[in-house]
Amino acid sequence: MKEIEINGIKETIIERSDFPIEECKNILRDEVTAILGYGPQGRGQGLNMRDQGFNVILGLRKGRSWDKAVSEGWIVGKTLFETEEAAQRGSIIQFLLSDAGQIAAWPGIKENLNDGDALYFSHGFGIVFHKDTKIIPPEYTDVILVAPKGSGLTVRTHFQAGRGINSSFAIHQDYTGRARERCISTAFAIGSGHLFETTFENEVHSDLTGERCVLMGLLQGAFLAQYEVLRENGHSPSEAYNETIEEALQSLYPLVSEKGMDWMYANCSTTAQRGALDWAPRFRDAIKPVVEECYQSVLDGKEARISIESNSQSDYREKLEIELEEVNNQEMWKAGHVLRKLRPENL
Ligand SMILES: NC(=O)c1ccc[n+]([C@@H]2O[C@H](COP(=O)([O-])OP(=O)(O)OC[C@H]3O[C@@H](n4cnc5c(N)ncnc54)[C@H](OP(=O)(O)O)[C@@H]3O)[C@@H](O)[C@H]2O)c1
Repeated sequence: MKEIEINGIKETIIERSDFPIEECKNILRDEVTAILGYGPQGRGQGLNMRDQGFNVILGLRKGRSWDKAVSEGWIVGKTLFETEEAAQRGSIIQFLLSDAGQIAAWPGIKENLNDGDALYFSHGFGIVFHKDTKIIPPEYTDVILVAPKGSGLTVRTHFQAGRGINSSFAIHQDYTGRARERCISTAFAIGSGHLFETTFENEVHSDLTGERCVLMGLLQGAFLAQYEVLRENGHSPSEAYNETIEEALQSLYPLVSEKGMDWMYANCSTTAQRGALDWAPRFRDAIKPVVEECYQSVLDGKEARISIESNSQSDYREKLEIELEEVNNQEMWKAGHVLRKLRPENL
């Protein structure tokens, strides 16, 4: 465990060395982990557990995920079962269907939970918004959360590269008295880097805000605003794209990731530094009210209701594809298609 202090606020970080993988295996020696769902998280977490030698099975419905799992070595009747059968066989049930899929599948899963099972989530959504999702676990189960702070794809690729995505963890219900050790051992079994503790509420509120704002929504909105202004003022597509996206993602953001914002500023021209230092507070002032509005919308459950309603529609995927195609067809991303191919490594 490492005690860290940031601006006087103390936190405890749990590192891999605190729970070596052999100790995690010992803690989970009598458990069968059933991973329900084979989207980015189910796949990444499942393959990492399998590679580390944990006792893991998958629970899927027949179709796309099932076929992919078979092609990746999961064996029907041995490590691959239909969703409810896997829930019955497992003692730790990793509920990794899409958040809308969890609502649809919950009644069948609930019926198959046994005394002392642990119900595991990678997002607080189903539990926190239970008035809408109706996901209320029986009192004879542990309810735990491990939420990797990255896409499921990187949960897998970082693990394969010998690294790990950091995860938050939370205990919502401790029926067995073992919820914490089950949760932390599973977090390292799926290949997490380090762990920090949260609650289901804080996980879902920060996660929904993050993806709507800086991580995804604001990113696209800010890129587009700058690209449009440059184009409307006569700049060519390649100039607008390079100044907006290519330079950000290929050059400056990796520097921020490596050593921080001040270091990136310090490694840019004095002209750039002056302008960025002057304009950053104006953007903070302009954007903060929007982030605040978004956070309140998350907090009062409106964002959850919007996504449940939209994601539960039977033609959700078709409608999503149309919306994503509209993004793809924006001139900014058409420029991206052309210009990415011209990177030296792609020639
Ligand atoms: N994606 C991320 O980066 C990320 C990061 C952190 C946490 N999480 C959380 O992890 C969980 C899983 O997310 P994900 O992105 O990996 O998965 P996802 O892509 O949202 O879900 C895909 C899986 O759900 C299955 N599914 C959907 N509806 C179903 C139903 N009615 N019955 C049975 N199976 C159904 C799909 O099966 P089919 O192929 O058969 O349709 C597929 O295996 C979510 O709670 C999410 O919030 C995700």
